[in-house]
Amino acid sequence: PTHVLTMEDWGVTEIHNLLDRAEILSRSSKPFPAQRLFAVNLFFEPSTRTKISFEAAERNLGLDVLPFEADTSSVKKGETLYDTVKTLESIGANVVVIRHSKERYFDELIDKINIPIINGGDGCGHHPTQSFLDLLTIKQEFGTFQGLNIVIAGDIFHSRVARSNLEVLERLGAHVFVSGPKEWMSKELMHRYVSMDEAVEKADVMMMLRIQHERHAVKMVAGPADYHELYGLTAKREKKMKQNSIIMHPAPINRDVEIADELVECARSRIFKQMKNGVFVRMALLSHVLDHNRGGILQ
Ligand code: CP
Repeated sequence: PTHVLTMEDWGVTEIHNLLDRAEILSRSSKPFPAQRLFAVNLFFEPSTRTKISFEAAERNLGLDVLPFEADTSSVKKGETLYDTVKTLESIGANVVVIRHSKERYFDELIDKINIPIINGGDGCGHHPTQSFLDLLTIKQEFGTFQGLNIVIAGDIFHSRVARSNLEVLERLGAHVFVSGPKEWMSKELMHRYVSMDEAVEKADVMMMLRIQHERHAVKMVAGPADYHELYGLTAKREKKMKQNSIIMHPAPINRDVEIADELVECARSRIFKQMKNGVFVRMALLSHVLDHNRGGILQ
């Protein structure tokens, strides 16, 4: 089966084809599968956007969504992820979406599971469907990735969104910079480092990240107000941004920490557009992986 696991697996042409498919789906009311298809969303970590927008995407495509709640499943009795997914495959699932705290959880599944797996986030590893919705939002805004200055700012080290976006944006022709506390940057990223004051003047896209307290081994020293002043997108910094530059954030948001409350819905913000685009790229990805398996539900 075709899976969606990391952005590294996608070539530039394939990425553009997928974004075109999402655009078509955003304008279409057509797609319905001829036969009954079941989707199951397995979320072992909290989620609002990814889980609900996958469910919306599945329903928009006419798929039947089988319910799965990690807390009331047999995982609680010690059943492994592999046995859980194999069970769902046996019951008749045609596609599974998985979010799990273990980085690259999918490595132990892909050779043994015969239905597509779409990665809804693996620990600090990858978040390809978030990356696709970010790409669609940027492409809709600028028409291209070539030559854009994109600054990813904040808790880079713990962010699967940053990891998925860094590599693919560069491959698509953008110049990618990072900003935020240096202790959250790996050595390999330091040549991309800019201060927040430099960042706001340089960026076409300011991509802000949430501080992922739940993944920190050592508690953060700076309080929210200090962090906002040192590394946040403050109202004062926003005024120095270029005329047509935009603000993005995968959300959930810590208002007045990484981004000023008043900027979340300001004219430059594409944060809720990103969420809307999440439904379209997830429809495109589901139809992409099911096309390969079921002879096409969009034709
Ligand atoms: N951006 C994102 O993945 O949000 P959720 O954790 O709510 O799914």
